Amino acid sequence: MKNMGRLITFEGGDGCGKSTQLKLTADWLRGQGKDVLETRQPGATPLGVEIRSLLLSGEFVPVPECELLLFLADRAQHVQTVIQPALAKGQWVLCDRYSDSTLAYQLAARGLAEGVDLKPMLAFAEAGCVPEQTFWLDVSAEIALKRVRARTDMGAESTRLDEEALSFHERVHAAFIVICQQYPERMLRIDAGVDIGKIQKNIQNQLEALLLA
Ligand code: TMP
Repeated sequence: MKNMGRLITFEGGDGCGKSTQLKLTADWLRGQGKDVLETRQPGATPLGVEIRSLLLSGEFVPVPECELLLFLADRAQHVQTVIQPALAKGQWVLCDRYSDSTLAYQLAARGLAEGVDLKPMLAFAEAGCVPEQTFWLDVSAEIALKRVRARTDMGAESTRLDEEALSFHERVHAAFIVICQQYPERMLRIDAGVDIGKIQKNIQNQLEALLLA
């Protein structure tokens, strides 16, 4: 069955500005008369809130395999109880992170995919729900991490993964470059090193094509 709604995801390293851009994009789409759902992974269902806390609060340090499975568990619950129903209602679903984050953080940066094909597990959690368009907000790991640290100094919540070393965030960034090359039909690199208004205009220009489709 073809979805009536549209699934658009926002991806990138921590501190890339994707959450701000998702919000601005949602407001703009609403201005175009679209019914928009803003959501995120992990943590957008009651069960997902608990999984997010297990994963990111820092109280526990899961082994990489456990970390992967918890992110997939959150996704399965979110897709089937939130995203699919929203798409069936014809909503535009803007999701802050999706499977590309798992590819970049767990399979690549944690090195879990060495010698083993884990992509079928990612597809299993997605339950057939593949994004139509993914915006990868590209900024260097060094700049992004500086933004995260500045936010934390201002009192914002910092997660267990924010605290990873620069080298980990550099591996995540390198992985996004590869993912973007692997899925050119879906994934678009957006220069996130420029000002917020310019980034948003770039995203809107890309979405105009989808609005016409
Ligand atoms: P965020 O919601 O503030 O972006 O934080 C979520 C953190 O979880 C971020 O560091 C990226 C990480 N993450 C993964 O490692 N794998 C995943 O599959 C997802 C969705 C997020």
